Formats: sequence, C-alpha cells, structure tokens
Amino acid sequence: MRPRRLRQSPVMRAMVAEHEVAPRQLVLPVFVAEGASEPRPISSMPGVVQHTLDTLRRTAAEAAEAGLAGVMIFGVPEHQDAEGSGALAEDGILNVALRAVRAEVGDDLLVMSDVCLDEFTDHGHCGLLGADGTVDNDATVDVYARMAVMHAGCGAHVVAPSGMMDGQVSALRTALDLAGHVDTVVMAYAAKYASAFYGPFREAVASSLTGDRKTYQQDPANAREALREVRLDVEQGADLVMVKPALGYLDIINETARTVDVPVAAYNVSGEYAMVEAAAERGWIDRDRAIAETLLSIRRAGADVILSYWALEYAQKLGRR
Ligand code: PBG
Repeated sequence: MRPRRLRQSPVMRAMVAEHEVAPRQLVLPVFVAEGASEPRPISSMPGVVQHTLDTLRRTAAEAAEAGLAGVMIFGVPEHQDAEGSGALAEDGILNVALRAVRAEVGDDLLVMSDVCLDEFTDHGHCGLLGADGTVDNDATVDVYARMAVMHAGCGAHVVAPSGMMDGQVSALRTALDLAGHVDTVVMAYAAKYASAFYGPFREAVASSLTGDRKTYQQDPANAREALREVRLDVEQGADLVMVKPALGYLDIINETARTVDVPVAAYNVSGEYAMVEAAAERGWIDRDRAIAETLLSIRRAGADVILSYWALEYAQKLGRR
C-alpha cells in the first residue's frame, strides 16, 4: 500500500477529502451597540466591530448573500443595571436589532439571539443576584423565558440560552410554546466551560464582570459532566446543542456528536479568534490557512454548525480556494 498515491495532486486530494466546511453550516456572531453612530472597533478582536443598527443590517444582508446559515446577535446596551432591565425593554438594543435584521433578511438568513443577561447587568453576571450575592438560578430562568418570548416576537428564528442555568431549556420551550412560538428553535449552549478564551468577548460587550462564572459554567477538568449537561438539554427539548469553546474542547464536541441525535453546534470563541489574528499580525502564522484549518478541525470533530467570527470572510473568500 502507498497512501501517498491519493495525495499526489489537488484534484486527487479533493476527491478523497473526508470533510469540508460549507457556508450553510456557518453562523456569524455580531455585536450591536445602542446609540452608536459609527461602528466601533474592538481592539482585542481586530476586524470585528460593535455595529450600528445600519451596519448590522448591511452585514446581515451580506451574510445572506454569502450563503451563511445565520447571524447570532449580541446587544451592547448604553446603560447596565443590577436587573439587566435593558434585556426586557421593548426598545432595548437587542430587541430593536432583532426586528431590524429580520425585516432586512426575512427567511433568507436565520436570525439568532443570545438569551443571557451578562451584557445588560452592571455586575456582569449572566443572571440576577440573590441577597447573598450569588446568581439566583430560578429567578434568572424566569427572565430568560421572558427574553426568549420577546426575541421570538421580534423575529428571532433561533434563541440561544447561554447562561448555563439549570432548567433554562425547558423554561424557554414551555414559555415559547405557551406564547404560540412553537416553531422557534432552541439552540442550547449545553456544554459551556468557564474559559479564559472568552476574554476578548468581554471587551466586545463592555462587560463589567469582576470575579468569574465558575458556579454556573463548567470546569475545564470535566468531560463526563458535559455529557450530562447535553443529555439534560436534549431531554428538555433543545433542538440543537452547542459546545463552547471549540478548540480546546474538540474531544467534547466529538463525544457529544456520538452521543446525541440532535445537531451539534460549536462556538469558535473570541480568544480562539484573537490568538490566530495576533500571531498572523506578527507574521508568525499563515492566517488564511490557520483559519481554514481551525474550522475544518471543528467540523472533523463532529460539529454540524460552527459559530465563528471568520464565518463571513470564510464564505466570501477563504473557502473558495
Ligand atoms: C454570554 C456569552 C459569552 C460568550 C457568548 N455568550 C461570554 C461568557 O460566557 O462569558 C462568549 C463568546 C466568545 O468568547 O466569543 N452571553
């Protein structure tokens, strides 16, 4: 046997390639800032901005044109408070943005919303704090359920609870169904780790978090626990389950894909983006190849859907080689 025979030319290699990354499987996470009149660069994520409503709409139209699956929208409110009240305000930035994007793209692109409070709270936690200063799971889940119904009403096709509160998926599903949104898809951040690789995201959403999220996000030391979280979310009605981050957790993506019979998404997070961009800026890595290899490795691990800040560029340019 000479395995090299099948590697002898580009056409030969393409014929036997086992995996590929298609635009239809990619979701672009986007940030939109309340009151912004110009897009604002995010220094730790070169090439990514906090959009104005206008540039967000245009980006969504480009994403649809490029054949992406969707955009995941994160709102950056002007004011934060202890309850994260901007999340439930009709004219809160995320709700406004969802309506604007859905009006722009219709059903040509999936409009996805982050169901979480950390962008809206002045303490930066993903939920409401109880009297003892810890995150109150059940009170938070009630707010998530109301947010999800609101997002669906604003046109979100997919709602994505990312706070890692227990019971969040069933609360969302029940509330959505009661409100008549039976077709709204729940994509659950099922196995989400307390990761250092979210660092740049915190700048992107102007998070005021001090401390950490270790009482609700998972310990990077654990693998079996991820399967329990994933199973619970599937039992509660998650249509898709997500693993996050992606690169340090390819084993978790793989085990999840082998274990469940719902589609699996993976989030190629801000720190994974920043590492490649920073190394490329210094000339230490071939940026385009590193991006393609990153996305391919996540697919090869078993992800059906990938959220990535490179999604649009990949679909427009890099994937076309
Ligand atoms: C929570 C949320 C976070 C990210 C997505 N949703 C931050 C966190 O959990 O601390 C991180 C995404 C990234 O790093 O790219 N709303």
